[in-house]
Amino acid sequence: MTHPDLHPLFTPVDLGELRLGNRVAMAPLTRLRAGEDGTPNGLMKEYYAQRASFGLIIAEGTWPVQEGKTWIGQPGIANDVHIEAWREITDAVHERGGKIIMQVMHGGRVSHDEITGTGRVVAPSALATPTPQYLPSGKADAPVPHALTLEEIPEVIEQYVVGARNAMAAGMDGVQVHGANGYLIHQFLAPSSNTRTDAYGGSPENRARFAVEVVTAVAEAIGAEHTGLRLSPARDIQGVEEHDPDDALDTYRAIAEGVAELGLAHIEMVHPAPEGELVQGVRAASGAPLIVNTGFDRFTDRDAALEAVGEGTADAVAVGRLALANPDLVERWREGTALNDPDKTTFYGGGARGYTDYPVLHRA
Ligand SMILES: Cc1cc2nc3c(=O)[nH]c(=O)nc-3n(C[C@H](O)[C@H](O)[C@H](O)COP(=O)(O)O)c2cc1C
Repeated sequence: MTHPDLHPLFTPVDLGELRLGNRVAMAPLTRLRAGEDGTPNGLMKEYYAQRASFGLIIAEGTWPVQEGKTWIGQPGIANDVHIEAWREITDAVHERGGKIIMQVMHGGRVSHDEITGTGRVVAPSALATPTPQYLPSGKADAPVPHALTLEEIPEVIEQYVVGARNAMAAGMDGVQVHGANGYLIHQFLAPSSNTRTDAYGGSPENRARFAVEVVTAVAEAIGAEHTGLRLSPARDIQGVEEHDPDDALDTYRAIAEGVAELGLAHIEMVHPAPEGELVQGVRAASGAPLIVNTGFDRFTDRDAALEAVGEGTADAVAVGRLALANPDLVERWREGTALNDPDKTTFYGGGARGYTDYPVLHRA
């Protein structure tokens, strides 16, 4: 039964082939509760199943290849064991009527041999991230990465494809390619982390090339209607700096134009001003349904979500910290009731506390 005054935030929307019951998505959130080898477990299944009433769950950044792993406890989608374990999670979400896609993430230079054991960390250029790394042995400077050669770049693109195929084999409703927040694709986009002089560096179009090629290859493998992309333009993070507004406009427009003919399921933009030229320019040029996430300095909150969807700035909103702390956020927002506060101390790693024990309003 639909109330006549129901806000569009709580009405269905189609993202590619996927029909969402409402427009509140759970943003990808790394929680570091997987096994040492990246295998998801029963606790993760419970966590995601609890959040099945979100219109869409975008599962946490997940590595498609050992070399792309960024943290201990981060899940993988690199082998049959991972696929089978994720299948338990997708089944549980689907049984509760939910939809779930996987964020496929290669960390690039934000990694360490102590985490991967591969002896190598890769990036567009041999420039270390200034962000310190937290390793089993303690805090350390990030390593200087190996600059990918022209011959190696197609191999890395293929790794995203394998991860995407594996995600679909695990029963995911789609894949979101992680192009945001200072990881491998974002490292290619920004002049501060990409000083290449070949076809993948220099001009905005060249820096956008890797992103476009990854998304194109994934879309060709699993279908564009199952493929999305997350971007976080003009946000200085982990040494990936996009200070020049004109350069950012050109770079992100190049991505949008480069993927336009594919017909992607969605593009998600992490940006505090989604109504502005940067985000709306990507939306117009790509033609893809737009999800926005406006948080960081402050939470993506109910007012921001109602406004973005109500005014047509976005097709859906992704919510991070409030989704983590409120498994029934959609119901709470619909009713306008109080929320649980996220507990920062349990964001990364640990067990059930601060993960699966946030209370819901109405127990089934
Ligand atoms: C604990 C935590 C883990 C996160 N992990 C990811 C991730 O795996 N992938 C990603 O793209 N962003 C990640 N983010 C960023 C969030 O998706 C989101 O953009 C950010 O929290 C701002 O939105 P919010 O105000 O709704 O929380 C993470 C944020 C937090 C707080």
